[in-house]
Amino acid sequence: MQREKIYFGIIGLGLMGKEFGSSLARWCHLLDDGFIPVISGICDKNQETWKWYTENFPGISIKTIDYTELLRSKEIDAIYCAVPHNLHEQIYIDIIRAKKHLLGEKPFGIDKKANENILKAIKENPEVVVRCSSEFPYFPACQQLIKWLKAGKYGRLIEVRVGFHHSSDMDLNKPINWKRMVEINGEYGCMGDLGIHTLHVPFNMGWKPTSVYADLQKIAENRPDGKGGIVPCKTWDNAVLTCRSTDPRTGKEFSMVVETKRMAPGATNNWFIEVYGTEGSATFSSHNPKAFNFLVTSGKEQGWTTIDCGSQSAIPSVTGGIFEFGFSDAFQQMIGAFVQELSGRGNTHPFKNVTPEETMWSHELFTAALESHKSGRKIILEK
Ligand SMILES: NC(=O)c1ccc[n+]([C@@H]2O[C@H](COP(=O)([O-])OP(=O)(O)OC[C@H]3O[C@@H](n4cnc5c(N)ncnc54)[C@H](O)[C@@H]3O)[C@@H](O)[C@H]2O)c1
Repeated sequence: MQREKIYFGIIGLGLMGKEFGSSLARWCHLLDDGFIPVISGICDKNQETWKWYTENFPGISIKTIDYTELLRSKEIDAIYCAVPHNLHEQIYIDIIRAKKHLLGEKPFGIDKKANENILKAIKENPEVVVRCSSEFPYFPACQQLIKWLKAGKYGRLIEVRVGFHHSSDMDLNKPINWKRMVEINGEYGCMGDLGIHTLHVPFNMGWKPTSVYADLQKIAENRPDGKGGIVPCKTWDNAVLTCRSTDPRTGKEFSMVVETKRMAPGATNNWFIEVYGTEGSATFSSHNPKAFNFLVTSGKEQGWTTIDCGSQSAIPSVTGGIFEFGFSDAFQQMIGAFVQELSGRGNTHPFKNVTPEETMWSHELFTAALESHKSGRKIILEK
């Protein structure tokens, strides 16, 4: 029997648009019997970006610089939207009002107000499935960690440390781009860019911060403008948020440290989670992506155990279980979770995409972090 297809439009054909397209091009990789996602429309203001898509996806019937053309198409069911942050609010709202399902990109609105307006549109259109992209938890070793967390093997939480460290900005000669401009990337800086990635697992566990003390840093004050000049670089480079949260499983408080750093020497793209508890502890880092590390605390001596995980992904794939898993696989698994939701089978997937409500929690946290850094005080967040 032929599998049903679901038709996607992509808005924003840059770095992430291509990653999305590439995942769909090899959908046969996944051993799933839900919808097959197909690209039928593309949109980018910069027509030079179209070539790669038209050369690789014969099924594209709409190419446009005007995203509303995709929204008017009866053929398109869902949109993946990966555009600069200042455009999220208007484009996401228009997508939702056009009744197209949306896999959007973080930070899901340039600021809290924009996020609130997007969530209002979602509330008014409850039949539309809306999720936010975040792929790192889909590494099989991190999925192991999540299973371990859900089984409550940590006992009472002492501390959770989550973070995302980059180092390419250590090159002070790197020309400025929109991700380093406050007007386009947003006031949150590195938090808006990297923050939702770090919070996906904690939020899925119900670990919503109840207070935050923030230490933000602007390190690179200027950058080349790419045209021979030098311009000010005003975004926050690094942020360390020290939070309190309550674990719904035990009702007890714990410390949560959230680090988003663009200037972390030596870290190419290091996403990590460390969970320390009274009965057990566990860690995962994309720096060593096969390793699920855990220890059991029983008495004085505790030793770490490392399990070398292969590619046993949440949605099974054709890759042999002992082989290596990578970023593109995690990204495809994330889209797989979204497609399963669209197929009405979201409940069968062990780990869901970031929900709109979780993006709201992140905006509350980053807005409070800006206030904390400015005032030098700890800020209390609503429970
Ligand atoms: N999930 C991840 O790991 C990840 C990684 C990087 C970026 N992102 C997010 O993805 C989004 C896009 O980032 P990117 O790195 O792909 O950026 P990018 O600059 O590579 O691509 C953005 C594209 O949007 C296009 N664009 C701009 N205005 C437009 C408009 N009005 N209509 C249509 N297209 C328009 C640009 O021409 C460009 O091709 C951001 O929200 C970013 O935070 C996510």
